[in-house]
Amino acid sequence: MEKARGRYTPGLEAASTGYSAAQTRTGAMIAMSSRTITMSDRLHAYLLNTVSREPEILARLRAETGPMEFGAMQISPEQGELMAFLARLHGVRRYLEIGTFTGYSALAVALALPEDGRVTACDVSEEWTAIARRYWLEAGVADRIDLHLAPAIETLDGLLAEGRAGSYDFIFIDADKPNYDGYYERALKLVRPGGLIGVDNVLWGGSVADPDNVEESTQAIRRLNVKMQADARVDYVLLPVGDGLALARRR
Ligand SMILES: C[S@@+](CC[C@H](N)C(=O)[O-])C[C@H]1O[C@@H](n2cnc3c(N)ncnc32)[C@H](O)[C@@H]1O
Repeated sequence: MEKARGRYTPGLEAASTGYSAAQTRTGAMIAMSSRTITMSDRLHAYLLNTVSREPEILARLRAETGPMEFGAMQISPEQGELMAFLARLHGVRRYLEIGTFTGYSALAVALALPEDGRVTACDVSEEWTAIARRYWLEAGVADRIDLHLAPAIETLDGLLAEGRAGSYDFIFIDADKPNYDGYYERALKLVRPGGLIGVDNVLWGGSVADPDNVEESTQAIRRLNVKMQADARVDYVLLPVGDGLALARRR
């Protein structure tokens, strides 16, 4: 069949196998699933209201942050659930986050850590992380989160100087895009072999595929995408979740 050679043509398969018209329609649906589904508002509402396990406190943080001027910077709830799931799956105990904002991703992962788990969070904003601290306190995880308020490159270099190389199980990169390569290279040193690095916004609203978009952030993301895809130091997958999440596992 065509499918076995990597090219899938529902009509052809129906002709060669004698599938009925209904089965041909089914075949067409299968062909549609070869592309990630478009997330309509109605489908997203179903995801959130019917099948999500987003904890109530995260939903409240999301509701408070959403209307803020830069509220769209927080990760999507489904991405938070994915990151919490990965943390449990991977037995994460040490999580490092570069870009904390009002604390959604840090809280999503902190809630998934064991009792002795620790979060190292990096940001530069007193104002935004004050909101984060309030929710971390209410959720009972404030004592497991160390927040570093300084340019993240400095914080990461400080962690390396303290001898923390290879000590993190999961590192999430979600701060200023021009520094993404610097964060990635430092994350590769700080994560343990077998540990996970997540890089957010790698589809950048679709602009990575727009040749007319030559903004500094877009170019920095494009460069890192190409580098990660070819990087023999990691296993790698790019998930079209949220604004695009690249996952790399240090070999
Ligand atoms: C996209 S937001 C992070 C969203 C967050 N992960 C969440 O789930 O809500 C990016 C954050 O990076 C921070 N940031 C920007 N430049 C930075 C830098 N040089 N060092 C550390 N943090 C920085 C910003 O203050 C902002 O809070």
